[in-house]
Amino acid sequence: MDIKLKDALTGRRSIRRFKQKDVSESEITDIIDMARLSASAGNAQPLRYVVVRSNSLVKSVFDNVAWAAYIKPLRTPKWGVSAPRCFIAVTAPAGFSNMAFADAGAAIQSLMLAAHGKGLGACWIGAFDRSKIDELLAMPNNRQVIFLVALGYPDENPVSQNIAANESIKYYLDEKDCLHVPKIRTADLIEWL
Ligand SMILES: Cc1cc2nc3c(=O)[nH]c(=O)nc-3n(C[C@H](O)[C@H](O)[C@H](O)COP(=O)(O)O)c2cc1C
Repeated sequence: MDIKLKDALTGRRSIRRFKQKDVSESEITDIIDMARLSASAGNAQPLRYVVVRSNSLVKSVFDNVAWAAYIKPLRTPKWGVSAPRCFIAVTAPAGFSNMAFADAGAAIQSLMLAAHGKGLGACWIGAFDRSKIDELLAMPNNRQVIFLVALGYPDENPVSQNIAANESIKYYLDEKDCLHVPKIRTADLIEWL
């Protein structure tokens, strides 16, 4: 990784417009290699990763996920134009525990930062048809997809902006079609005792 940690943490944004350029197997492997080192409750490491790269399966998954609800449909990617080139499905044992759920959060944050560090863009996807996705990915009865991550080369440059805790947290597009993501300022998040 060639960008500094602070730059990665501040510069990473969810990406929902992608260039139509493939992501190589080695890039994806490198990203998952970073995710696997994340914190894990009891170091149980219950997560496994299913990489969806074949065009027809990417399309099927794409058809069953939802994007950027606050500005729908303005950041819903278009198939063949701005769609992600692959999805990484983060899976865990069926009926996953809260701890496995938390593990997935830690792993996905690492995954997205690793992607950002490589000049890739990612979007964490929680809004999807779960039974349909489990079926499409041929999940065995004892495993389930917890979350999906859409991945590809970014074709947008969203920015964050500091807000007070009582301002709107809804992301929005400006007149130049740039996505602004409000983030509550530090002072409003901390209580010192
Ligand atoms: C648990 C979780 C689920 C999410 N699900 C979706 C989703 O289904 N679709 C989507 O477009 N974005 C999804 N996001 C991305 C959020 O909208 C995004 O993280 C938030 O707007 C802040 O923007 P940022 O990631 O650029 O900081 C999800 C994020 C998280 C953490």
